[in-house]
Amino acid sequence: MDSVHELAALLNDSCPGTVVAVTGAGVSAASGLPTFRGSDPDAIWNREITTIATRSYFRHDPVAWWRWFIKTFDGILDVNPNAAHIALARLESWVVNRGGRFLLITQNVDLLHERAGTKELVKVHGTADRFRCSRDGCELASPRGSIPFDDVDFGPFLAEPRRETIPKCSECGDLVRPHALLFDEYYGEHVDYEFSRVEETFAEMALVLFVGTSFSVGITEMALRAAALRGIPTWSIDPNGRDDAGIHVVRGAAETALPDLVDRLEAS
Ligand code: OAD
Repeated sequence: MDSVHELAALLNDSCPGTVVAVTGAGVSAASGLPTFRGSDPDAIWNREITTIATRSYFRHDPVAWWRWFIKTFDGILDVNPNAAHIALARLESWVVNRGGRFLLITQNVDLLHERAGTKELVKVHGTADRFRCSRDGCELASPRGSIPFDDVDFGPFLAEPRRETIPKCSECGDLVRPHALLFDEYYGEHVDYEFSRVEETFAEMALVLFVGTSFSVGITEMALRAAALRGIPTWSIDPNGRDDAGIHVVRGAAETALPDLVDRLEAS
């Protein structure tokens, strides 16, 4: 039996039940976005991300920080969903139509899952279409506040990158920052990361499917641990997927393997 066929059979067995998909940068690779640690030439990891993408570096040198961020994530809002995002939205419909529950947890800050039509979505690392104030305790900062993308003007900073031209919070005048999780921060820091919803769902899931992730940060470890404790099927779709005990790998690109999977489910 080929691996996609086996995964389709397990999804059939899991429904009705709770199916969780956890996506990473690889799901957006075919949309033209670089991964963090992948083999693509633009992979962000080459650029000392664990030092720079931190709250402490932001405080230390906000001008260098914003220059790095804008260069690294330039164009992230301009790309389109690919066949993998669309197939995940179809997978959600298939699960729900069979009386199951579906939750997609993404580590990506792009908008491609929502644009492809996924409804039950947790953006556990934040989102690129909002900002927030960097001063804790401000109404527009953690743990609840954020600022719409269109309310922030980076024009002056792009023309002349200086501390004075970094956009400021309209409430308190402190510096604006991305609405995204940094390396020295926690999942529970902002309600929009919906970490309690993630934990609740991990506690009831019947199958977990990872797509395009290298299992390098906390959320994937938590999902793996929860899956191991529940003894549930654990799958990964990744051309370079790791073959660790307990993870079954569909060794292929998400944009081909996922449509193939959903075609088979819909035909069954
Ligand atoms: P990585 O860049 O670490 O891993 C991307 C994975 O996608 C790799 O395993 C690739 O083999 C795989 N891949 C590449 N092309 C693919 C394709 N077409 N189809 C399927 N898989 C493909 O990205 P993440 O695991 O998402 O966190 O990284 C996790 C987090 O690390 C990021 O969210 C970011 C970073 O620190 C924050 O910024 C908070």
